[in-house]
Amino acid sequence: MFDASVYVQRRKKLKEKLGSGLVLFMGNEESPMNYPANPFHFRQDSSFLYFFGLDFPNLAGIIDIDNDRDIIFGDDLTIDDIVWTGPQPTIAERSAEVGVSETQPFSDLEEKVKSAGNVHYLPQYFHALMIKMESLLGIHPNKLNENASVELIKAVVEQRNIKSEEEVREMELAADIAYEMHTYAMRATKPGMVESEISGKVEGIALSKGPGVSFPVIFTINGQTLHNHYHGNIMKDGDKIINDSGAESPLHYASDLTRTYPVNGKFTPEQKEIYEIVLRSQLEAIEAIEPGKMYKEVHLHTAKVIAEGLKEAGFMKGNLEDAVNQGAHALFFPHGLGHMIGLDVHDMEGLGEDYVGYDDTVRRSDQFGLAYLRLARKLEPGNVLTVEPGIYFIPELIDMWKSENKLADFIDYDKVEQCRDHGGCRIEDDVLVTDNGKKVLGMPVPKTVADVEAECAK
Ligand code: GLY
Ligand code: MN
Ligand code: MN
Repeated sequence: MFDASVYVQRRKKLKEKLGSGLVLFMGNEESPMNYPANPFHFRQDSSFLYFFGLDFPNLAGIIDIDNDRDIIFGDDLTIDDIVWTGPQPTIAERSAEVGVSETQPFSDLEEKVKSAGNVHYLPQYFHALMIKMESLLGIHPNKLNENASVELIKAVVEQRNIKSEEEVREMELAADIAYEMHTYAMRATKPGMVESEISGKVEGIALSKGPGVSFPVIFTINGQTLHNHYHGNIMKDGDKIINDSGAESPLHYASDLTRTYPVNGKFTPEQKEIYEIVLRSQLEAIEAIEPGKMYKEVHLHTAKVIAEGLKEAGFMKGNLEDAVNQGAHALFFPHGLGHMIGLDVHDMEGLGEDYVGYDDTVRRSDQFGLAYLRLARKLEPGNVLTVEPGIYFIPELIDMWKSENKLADFIDYDKVEQCRDHGGCRIEDDVLVTDNGKKVLGMPVPKTVADVEAECAK
Protein backbone atom coordinates (compact mmCIF):
# COMPACT_ATOMS: atom_id res chain seq x y z
CA MET A 1 0.00 0.00 0.00
CA PHE A 2 1.00 3.65 -0.20
CA ASP A 3 2.21 5.50 2.87
CA ALA A 4 -0.53 6.04 5.49
CA SER A 5 -0.42 9.79 4.86
CA VAL A 6 -1.74 9.24 1.31
CA TYR A 7 -4.95 7.66 2.62
CA VAL A 8 -5.28 10.20 5.43
CA GLN A 9 -5.03 13.04 2.91
CA ARG A 10 -7.54 11.43 0.55
CA ARG A 11 -10.09 11.05 3.34
CA LYS A 12 -9.45 14.58 4.58
CA LYS A 13 -10.08 15.99 1.12
CA LEU A 14 -13.32 14.04 0.85
CA LYS A 15 -14.47 15.32 4.25
CA GLU A 16 -13.75 18.90 3.22
CA LYS A 17 -15.64 18.46 -0.03
CA LEU A 18 -18.76 16.88 1.51
CA GLY A 19 -18.79 18.98 4.67
CA SER A 20 -21.19 16.82 6.72
CA GLY A 21 -22.73 13.39 7.16
CA LEU A 22 -21.40 9.87 7.37
CA VAL A 23 -19.74 8.12 4.40
CA LEU A 24 -20.01 4.36 4.17
CA PHE A 25 -17.57 2.42 1.99
CA MET A 26 -18.23 -1.32 1.80
CA GLY A 27 -15.17 -3.47 1.14
CA ASN A 28 -15.74 -6.51 -1.05
CA GLU A 29 -16.34 -10.05 0.13
CA GLU A 30 -15.13 -13.25 -1.43
CA SER A 31 -17.48 -14.46 -4.14
CA PRO A 32 -18.23 -18.20 -4.49
CA MET A 33 -17.35 -19.85 -7.78
CA ASN A 34 -19.21 -23.15 -7.40
CA TYR A 35 -19.55 -23.59 -3.64
CA PRO A 36 -18.94 -21.17 -0.77
CA ALA A 37 -15.42 -22.23 0.14
CA ASN A 38 -14.21 -22.18 -3.48
CA PRO A 39 -14.18 -18.47 -4.32
CA PHE A 40 -13.21 -16.45 -7.37
CA HIS A 41 -9.98 -14.47 -7.20
CA PHE A 42 -10.60 -11.74 -4.58
CA ARG A 43 -10.63 -8.16 -5.84
CA GLN A 44 -11.14 -5.31 -3.39
CA ASP A 45 -13.55 -2.54 -4.30
CA SER A 46 -11.61 0.27 -5.96
CA SER A 47 -13.10 3.17 -3.99
CA PHE A 48 -12.52 1.27 -0.75
CA LEU A 49 -8.92 0.72 -1.87
CA TYR A 50 -8.58 4.38 -2.76
CA PHE A 51 -9.70 5.70 0.63
CA PHE A 52 -8.76 2.84 2.95
CA GLY A 53 -6.02 0.87 1.12
CA LEU A 54 -6.76 -2.46 2.84
CA ASP A 55 -6.71 -5.32 0.38
CA PHE A 56 -8.60 -8.13 2.09
CA PRO A 57 -12.27 -9.12 2.41
CA ASN A 58 -15.05 -8.44 4.94
CA LEU A 59 -14.34 -4.84 5.89
CA ALA A 60 -16.29 -1.62 5.89
CA GLY A 61 -14.90 1.87 6.24
CA ILE A 62 -16.75 4.79 7.76
CA ILE A 63 -15.80 8.42 7.40
CA ASP A 64 -17.81 10.22 10.07
CA ILE A 65 -17.44 13.79 8.89
CA ASP A 66 -19.47 15.41 11.68
CA ASN A 67 -17.22 13.92 14.38
CA ASP A 68 -14.02 13.79 12.25
CA ARG A 69 -13.55 10.06 12.81
CA ASP A 70 -12.39 7.37 10.38
CA ILE A 71 -13.31 3.83 11.46
CA ILE A 72 -12.62 0.38 10.03
CA PHE A 73 -15.18 -2.32 10.83
CA GLY A 74 -13.90 -5.88 10.63
CA ASP A 75 -13.21 -8.99 12.66
CA ASP A 76 -9.90 -10.47 13.72
CA LEU A 77 -9.27 -14.08 12.78
CA THR A 78 -10.31 -16.76 15.23
CA ILE A 79 -8.17 -19.83 15.85
CA ASP A 80 -10.50 -21.75 13.51
CA ASP A 81 -9.65 -19.28 10.71
CA ILE A 82 -5.95 -19.30 11.51
CA VAL A 83 -5.77 -23.09 11.18
CA TRP A 84 -6.79 -22.69 7.51
CA THR A 85 -5.36 -19.32 6.53
CA GLY A 86 -2.34 -18.87 8.79
CA PRO A 87 -1.85 -15.96 11.18
CA GLN A 88 -2.51 -12.39 10.05
CA PRO A 89 -1.93 -9.02 11.72
CA THR A 90 -4.97 -7.74 13.61
CA ILE A 91 -7.49 -5.39 12.02
CA ALA A 92 -6.12 -2.66 14.31
CA GLU A 93 -2.55 -3.27 13.17
CA ARG A 94 -3.49 -3.28 9.52
CA SER A 95 -5.74 -0.23 9.86
CA ALA A 96 -2.87 1.69 11.48
CA GLU A 97 -0.93 1.20 8.23
CA VAL A 98 -3.54 3.30 6.40
CA GLY A 99 -3.75 5.93 9.12
CA VAL A 100 -6.93 4.65 10.81
CA SER A 101 -6.60 4.38 14.57
CA GLU A 102 -10.17 3.38 15.35
CA THR A 103 -11.49 -0.11 14.63
CA GLN A 104 -14.65 -1.94 15.67
CA PRO A 105 -16.10 -5.42 15.16
CA PHE A 106 -18.17 -5.74 11.98
CA SER A 107 -21.32 -6.32 14.04
CA ASP A 108 -21.06 -2.73 15.36
CA LEU A 109 -21.49 -1.30 11.87
CA GLU A 110 -25.28 -1.57 11.90
CA GLU A 111 -25.69 0.56 14.99
CA LYS A 112 -23.23 3.13 13.70
CA VAL A 113 -25.04 3.47 10.38
CA LYS A 114 -28.52 3.44 11.92
CA SER A 115 -27.65 6.17 14.38
CA ALA A 116 -26.42 8.48 11.62
CA GLY A 117 -28.74 10.99 10.01
CA ASN A 118 -27.24 11.42 6.58
CA VAL A 119 -25.46 8.36 5.13
CA HIS A 120 -23.59 8.81 1.85
CA TYR A 121 -22.83 5.68 -0.12
CA LEU A 122 -21.76 4.88 -3.69
CA PRO A 123 -23.71 2.81 -6.25
CA GLN A 124 -23.16 -0.91 -5.64
CA TYR A 125 -22.51 -3.81 -8.02
CA PHE A 126 -21.87 -6.73 -5.65
CA HIS A 127 -25.20 -8.37 -4.92
CA ALA A 128 -24.20 -10.04 -1.64
CA LEU A 129 -23.21 -6.61 -0.32
CA MET A 130 -26.44 -5.09 -1.58
CA ILE A 131 -28.33 -7.56 0.56
CA LYS A 132 -26.10 -6.70 3.53
CA MET A 133 -26.70 -3.00 2.91
CA GLU A 134 -30.45 -3.57 2.97
CA SER A 135 -30.20 -4.55 6.61
CA LEU A 136 -27.92 -1.58 7.36
CA LEU A 137 -29.93 1.05 5.56
CA GLY A 138 -33.40 -0.42 5.22
CA ILE A 139 -33.34 0.12 1.45
CA HIS A 140 -34.32 -2.77 -0.83
CA PRO A 141 -31.44 -3.84 -3.14
CA ASN A 142 -33.52 -2.82 -6.18
CA LYS A 143 -33.74 0.74 -4.84
CA LEU A 144 -30.21 1.00 -3.47
CA ASN A 145 -28.47 2.52 -6.45
CA GLU A 146 -31.11 5.12 -7.19
CA ASN A 147 -30.65 6.35 -3.61
CA ALA A 148 -26.84 6.49 -3.80
CA SER A 149 -25.35 9.88 -2.99
CA VAL A 150 -24.75 11.95 -6.12
CA GLU A 151 -22.76 14.37 -3.97
CA LEU A 152 -20.44 11.52 -2.96
CA ILE A 153 -20.18 10.18 -6.51
CA LYS A 154 -19.15 13.60 -7.78
CA ALA A 155 -16.64 14.11 -4.97
CA VAL A 156 -15.06 10.67 -5.47
CA VAL A 157 -14.87 11.13 -9.24
CA GLU A 158 -13.27 14.54 -8.81
CA GLN A 159 -10.54 13.01 -6.63
CA ARG A 160 -9.95 9.77 -8.50
CA ASN A 161 -9.94 11.42 -11.95
CA ILE A 162 -6.69 13.20 -11.07
CA LYS A 163 -3.79 10.79 -10.57
CA SER A 164 -1.02 11.72 -8.18
CA GLU A 165 2.66 10.96 -8.83
CA GLU A 166 2.54 7.76 -6.80
CA GLU A 167 -0.51 6.60 -8.73
CA VAL A 168 1.16 7.33 -12.04
CA ARG A 169 4.17 5.28 -10.93
CA GLU A 170 1.83 2.35 -10.32
CA MET A 171 0.23 2.85 -13.71
CA GLU A 172 3.67 2.81 -15.35
CA LEU A 173 4.30 -0.54 -13.63
CA ALA A 174 0.99 -1.87 -14.94
CA ALA A 175 1.86 -0.69 -18.45
CA ASP A 176 5.30 -2.28 -18.25
CA ILE A 177 3.69 -5.64 -17.44
CA ALA A 178 1.42 -5.12 -20.46
CA TYR A 179 4.58 -4.51 -22.53
CA GLU A 180 5.73 -8.03 -21.58
CA MET A 181 2.28 -9.48 -22.37
CA HIS A 182 2.11 -7.90 -25.81
CA THR A 183 5.66 -8.46 -26.97
CA TYR A 184 5.52 -12.09 -25.78
CA ALA A 185 2.34 -12.64 -27.81
CA MET A 186 3.86 -11.15 -30.96
CA ARG A 187 6.92 -13.39 -30.66
CA ALA A 188 5.11 -16.59 -29.72
CA THR A 189 2.11 -16.57 -32.11
CA LYS A 190 2.52 -18.99 -35.02
CA PRO A 191 0.08 -20.34 -37.63
CA GLY A 192 -1.54 -23.58 -36.49
CA MET A 193 -1.68 -22.66 -32.81
CA VAL A 194 -4.95 -22.22 -30.92
CA GLU A 195 -5.61 -18.70 -29.58
CA SER A 196 -5.74 -20.02 -26.00
CA GLU A 197 -2.14 -21.25 -26.24
CA ILE A 198 -1.10 -17.61 -26.35
CA SER A 199 -3.92 -15.92 -24.40
CA GLY A 200 -3.36 -18.25 -21.43
CA LYS A 201 0.33 -17.39 -21.31
CA VAL A 202 -0.44 -13.68 -21.72
CA GLU A 203 -2.65 -13.92 -18.64
CA GLY A 204 0.08 -15.90 -16.90
CA ILE A 205 2.55 -13.04 -17.42
CA ALA A 206 0.15 -10.69 -15.61
CA LEU A 207 -0.19 -13.19 -12.79
CA SER A 208 3.54 -13.79 -12.56
CA LYS A 209 4.33 -10.08 -12.23
CA GLY A 210 1.43 -8.72 -10.20
CA PRO A 211 -2.13 -9.45 -9.08
CA GLY A 212 -3.18 -10.48 -12.61
CA VAL A 213 -5.07 -9.09 -15.58
CA SER A 214 -7.05 -5.88 -15.27
CA PHE A 215 -9.91 -7.31 -17.39
CA PRO A 216 -10.51 -10.59 -19.23
CA VAL A 217 -8.02 -10.96 -22.09
CA ILE A 218 -9.35 -10.21 -25.57
CA PHE A 219 -7.19 -12.24 -27.92
CA THR A 220 -8.80 -13.17 -31.19
CA ILE A 221 -8.58 -13.58 -34.94
CA ASN A 222 -12.15 -12.21 -34.98
CA GLY A 223 -11.34 -8.71 -33.82
CA GLN A 224 -14.42 -7.33 -35.56
CA THR A 225 -16.24 -8.48 -32.41
CA LEU A 226 -15.10 -5.69 -30.13
CA HIS A 227 -14.93 -7.53 -26.81
CA ASN A 228 -14.34 -11.08 -28.06
CA HIS A 229 -13.47 -13.41 -25.18
CA TYR A 230 -13.53 -16.67 -27.16
CA HIS A 231 -10.05 -18.16 -27.43
CA GLY A 232 -10.72 -21.45 -29.21
CA ASN A 233 -9.89 -20.63 -32.84
CA ILE A 234 -6.92 -22.04 -34.70
CA MET A 235 -4.81 -19.11 -35.91
CA LYS A 236 -4.11 -19.51 -39.61
CA ASP A 237 -1.68 -18.08 -42.10
CA GLY A 238 -3.15 -14.79 -43.33
CA ASP A 239 -5.15 -14.15 -40.12
CA LYS A 240 -4.41 -11.23 -37.87
CA ILE A 241 -4.76 -11.03 -34.12
CA ILE A 242 -6.24 -8.36 -31.92
CA ASN A 243 -4.63 -8.61 -28.50
CA ASP A 244 -6.40 -6.27 -26.08
CA SER A 245 -5.00 -7.04 -22.66
CA GLY A 246 -3.64 -5.33 -19.60
CA ALA A 247 -2.40 -5.98 -16.10
CA GLU A 248 -2.84 -4.69 -12.59
CA SER A 249 0.11 -3.15 -10.77
CA PRO A 250 0.86 -4.44 -7.25
CA LEU A 251 -1.57 -1.83 -5.85
CA HIS A 252 -4.24 -2.68 -8.46
CA TYR A 253 -3.85 0.17 -10.92
CA ALA A 254 -4.74 -0.95 -14.44
CA SER A 255 -3.18 -0.92 -17.87
CA ASP A 256 -5.17 -1.52 -21.06
CA LEU A 257 -3.23 -1.93 -24.33
CA THR A 258 -4.19 -3.25 -27.73
CA ARG A 259 -2.02 -4.34 -30.60
CA THR A 260 -3.02 -5.89 -33.92
CA TYR A 261 -0.50 -8.11 -35.70
CA PRO A 262 -0.33 -10.79 -38.38
CA VAL A 263 -0.33 -14.42 -37.24
CA ASN A 264 2.47 -15.27 -39.67
CA GLY A 265 4.43 -12.14 -38.80
CA LYS A 266 3.98 -10.31 -42.11
CA PHE A 267 1.07 -7.93 -42.86
CA THR A 268 -0.66 -8.56 -46.20
CA PRO A 269 -1.03 -5.40 -48.37
CA GLU A 270 -4.76 -5.24 -47.43
CA GLN A 271 -4.03 -5.60 -43.72
CA LYS A 272 -1.28 -3.03 -43.95
CA GLU A 273 -3.51 -0.49 -45.69
CA ILE A 274 -6.06 -0.58 -42.86
CA TYR A 275 -3.40 -0.83 -40.14
CA GLU A 276 -1.63 2.30 -41.37
CA ILE A 277 -4.87 4.28 -41.21
CA VAL A 278 -5.53 3.16 -37.62
CA LEU A 279 -1.93 3.87 -36.66
CA ARG A 280 -2.01 7.36 -38.18
CA SER A 281 -5.26 8.12 -36.40
CA GLN A 282 -3.91 6.87 -33.06
CA LEU A 283 -0.69 8.89 -33.35
CA GLU A 284 -2.62 12.01 -34.32
CA ALA A 285 -5.01 11.48 -31.40
CA ILE A 286 -2.12 11.21 -28.94
CA GLU A 287 -0.52 14.27 -30.50
CA ALA A 288 -3.75 16.24 -30.01
CA ILE A 289 -3.99 15.53 -26.28
CA GLU A 290 -3.33 18.49 -24.03
CA PRO A 291 -4.91 20.01 -20.93
CA GLY A 292 -7.98 22.09 -21.69
CA LYS A 293 -8.86 20.10 -24.82
CA MET A 294 -12.22 18.32 -24.93
CA TYR A 295 -11.69 14.61 -25.48
CA LYS A 296 -14.80 14.62 -27.65
CA GLU A 297 -12.93 16.97 -29.97
CA VAL A 298 -9.99 14.53 -30.09
CA HIS A 299 -12.44 11.68 -30.80
CA LEU A 300 -14.04 13.58 -33.69
CA HIS A 301 -10.63 14.54 -35.09
CA THR A 302 -9.64 10.86 -35.00
CA ALA A 303 -12.88 9.90 -36.74
CA LYS A 304 -11.98 12.40 -39.47
CA VAL A 305 -8.49 10.92 -39.90
CA ILE A 306 -10.04 7.46 -40.16
CA ALA A 307 -12.59 8.69 -42.67
CA GLU A 308 -9.84 10.30 -44.78
CA GLY A 309 -7.90 7.04 -44.81
CA LEU A 310 -10.98 5.05 -45.69
CA LYS A 311 -11.79 7.49 -48.50
CA GLU A 312 -8.30 7.06 -49.94
CA ALA A 313 -8.79 3.31 -49.70
CA GLY A 314 -12.15 3.56 -51.52
CA PHE A 315 -14.47 2.62 -48.65
CA MET A 316 -15.82 6.11 -47.97
CA LYS A 317 -16.62 9.03 -50.23
CA GLY A 318 -18.05 12.53 -50.29
CA ASN A 319 -17.52 15.43 -47.92
CA LEU A 320 -15.81 14.00 -44.87
CA GLU A 321 -16.77 16.84 -42.55
CA ASP A 322 -20.41 16.01 -43.26
CA ALA A 323 -19.67 12.27 -43.09
CA VAL A 324 -18.25 12.55 -39.58
CA ASN A 325 -20.97 14.95 -38.43
CA GLN A 326 -23.59 12.45 -39.55
CA GLY A 327 -21.70 9.49 -38.06
CA ALA A 328 -20.90 7.61 -41.30
CA HIS A 329 -17.44 6.60 -40.03
CA ALA A 330 -19.18 4.63 -37.25
CA LEU A 331 -19.85 1.80 -39.70
CA PHE A 332 -16.09 1.15 -39.34
CA PHE A 333 -15.27 2.87 -36.03
CA PRO A 334 -18.36 2.26 -33.91
CA HIS A 335 -16.86 2.89 -30.46
CA GLY A 336 -15.37 5.78 -28.54
CA LEU A 337 -11.74 6.85 -28.69
CA GLY A 338 -11.12 5.95 -25.06
CA HIS A 339 -11.95 6.09 -21.39
CA MET A 340 -10.46 7.10 -18.08
CA ILE A 341 -8.28 4.40 -16.52
CA GLY A 342 -7.02 4.02 -12.96
CA LEU A 343 -7.92 1.57 -10.23
CA ASP A 344 -10.59 0.30 -12.65
CA VAL A 345 -9.80 -0.33 -16.27
CA HIS A 346 -12.88 1.68 -17.19
CA ASP A 347 -12.28 3.94 -14.26
CA MET A 348 -15.27 4.34 -11.94
CA GLU A 349 -17.68 3.06 -14.58
CA GLY A 350 -19.71 1.56 -11.74
CA LEU A 351 -20.32 5.04 -10.32
CA GLY A 352 -21.93 6.15 -13.57
CA GLU A 353 -20.02 6.67 -16.81
CA ASP A 354 -21.44 10.11 -17.39
CA TYR A 355 -20.18 11.41 -14.05
CA VAL A 356 -16.66 10.31 -15.03
CA GLY A 357 -16.42 11.24 -18.69
CA TYR A 358 -18.99 14.02 -19.05
CA ASP A 359 -19.86 17.18 -17.15
CA ASP A 360 -22.18 20.17 -17.33
CA THR A 361 -20.43 21.43 -20.47
CA VAL A 362 -20.85 18.28 -22.55
CA ARG A 363 -23.74 15.85 -22.82
CA ARG A 364 -23.64 12.35 -24.31
CA SER A 365 -24.75 12.16 -27.93
CA ASP A 366 -27.34 9.62 -29.00
CA GLN A 367 -25.79 9.14 -32.45
CA PHE A 368 -24.66 5.54 -33.13
CA GLY A 369 -20.92 5.35 -32.42
CA LEU A 370 -20.58 8.70 -30.67
CA ALA A 371 -23.02 7.44 -28.04
CA TYR A 372 -20.38 4.90 -26.98
CA LEU A 373 -17.80 7.59 -26.23
CA ARG A 374 -17.07 7.08 -22.53
CA LEU A 375 -14.93 10.20 -22.16
CA ALA A 376 -15.86 13.52 -23.70
CA ARG A 377 -15.01 16.16 -21.09
CA LYS A 378 -12.18 18.68 -21.00
CA LEU A 379 -8.84 17.07 -20.14
CA GLU A 380 -6.93 18.05 -17.02
CA PRO A 381 -3.35 17.37 -15.90
CA GLY A 382 -3.39 14.10 -13.98
CA ASN A 383 -6.07 12.43 -16.10
CA VAL A 384 -5.01 9.05 -17.44
CA LEU A 385 -6.99 7.80 -20.40
CA THR A 386 -6.84 5.32 -23.23
CA VAL A 387 -6.43 6.17 -26.90
CA GLU A 388 -7.85 3.28 -28.87
CA PRO A 389 -9.13 3.92 -32.38
CA GLY A 390 -10.00 0.98 -34.59
CA ILE A 391 -11.41 -0.02 -37.96
CA TYR A 392 -13.74 -3.01 -38.13
CA PHE A 393 -15.67 -4.81 -40.83
CA ILE A 394 -18.66 -6.14 -38.91
CA PRO A 395 -20.69 -8.23 -41.39
CA GLU A 396 -23.97 -7.90 -39.49
CA LEU A 397 -23.64 -4.12 -39.27
CA ILE A 398 -22.63 -3.83 -42.92
CA ASP A 399 -25.69 -5.88 -43.93
CA MET A 400 -27.98 -3.72 -41.83
CA TRP A 401 -26.66 -0.38 -43.03
CA LYS A 402 -26.55 -1.57 -46.64
CA SER A 403 -30.15 -2.82 -46.52
CA GLU A 404 -31.19 0.63 -45.29
CA ASN A 405 -28.88 2.37 -47.78
CA LYS A 406 -27.78 4.28 -44.72
CA LEU A 407 -25.57 7.32 -45.28
CA ALA A 408 -24.93 6.04 -48.82
CA ASP A 409 -23.52 9.43 -49.88
CA PHE A 410 -20.48 8.62 -47.77
CA ILE A 411 -20.05 4.85 -48.06
CA ASP A 412 -19.14 2.77 -51.08
CA TYR A 413 -21.13 -0.33 -50.21
CA ASP A 414 -19.83 -2.32 -53.22
CA LYS A 415 -16.25 -1.85 -52.08
CA VAL A 416 -17.18 -2.57 -48.44
CA GLU A 417 -18.98 -5.74 -49.53
CA GLN A 418 -15.83 -7.03 -51.20
CA CYS A 419 -13.96 -6.68 -47.93
CA ARG A 420 -16.58 -7.81 -45.43
CA ASP A 421 -14.17 -10.46 -44.09
CA HIS A 422 -11.41 -7.95 -43.27
CA GLY A 423 -11.98 -8.41 -39.52
CA GLY A 424 -10.83 -5.79 -37.02
CA CYS A 425 -7.85 -3.63 -36.23
CA ARG A 426 -7.33 -1.61 -33.04
CA ILE A 427 -4.32 0.08 -31.43
CA GLU A 428 -4.52 1.23 -27.81
CA ASP A 429 -2.18 2.98 -25.40
CA ASP A 430 -2.60 4.57 -21.96
CA VAL A 431 -1.80 8.27 -21.82
CA LEU A 432 -1.24 10.67 -18.92
CA VAL A 433 -2.28 14.30 -19.42
CA THR A 434 0.58 16.43 -18.10
CA ASP A 435 0.77 20.16 -17.31
CA ASN A 436 1.76 20.95 -20.86
CA GLY A 437 0.98 17.90 -22.95
CA LYS A 438 0.91 14.16 -22.47
CA LYS A 439 2.99 11.08 -21.77
CA VAL A 440 2.36 7.58 -23.07
CA LEU A 441 2.76 5.23 -20.11
CA GLY A 442 5.04 2.21 -20.00
CA MET A 443 7.72 0.86 -22.27
CA PRO A 444 6.69 1.43 -25.89
CA VAL A 445 5.14 -1.71 -27.37
CA PRO A 446 6.02 -2.02 -31.10
CA LYS A 447 3.48 -0.12 -33.15
CA THR A 448 4.81 0.74 -36.62
CA VAL A 449 4.43 -1.98 -39.26
CA ALA A 450 8.23 -2.42 -39.35
CA ASP A 451 8.53 -2.66 -35.55
CA VAL A 452 5.61 -5.06 -35.20
CA GLU A 453 6.99 -7.33 -37.95
CA ALA A 454 10.45 -7.19 -36.33
CA GLU A 455 9.01 -8.24 -32.95
CA CYS A 456 7.01 -11.05 -34.57
CA ALA A 457 10.21 -12.27 -36.24
CA LYS A 458 12.17 -12.57 -32.96
N1 GLY B 1 -10.12 -3.43 -22.82
C1 GLY B 1 -11.41 -2.93 -23.02
C2 GLY B 1 -11.33 -1.60 -23.58
O1 GLY B 1 -10.41 -1.30 -24.30
O2 GLY B 1 -12.12 -0.75 -23.31
MN1 MN C 1 -8.55 -2.39 -24.27
MN1 MN D 1 -9.68 0.47 -23.36
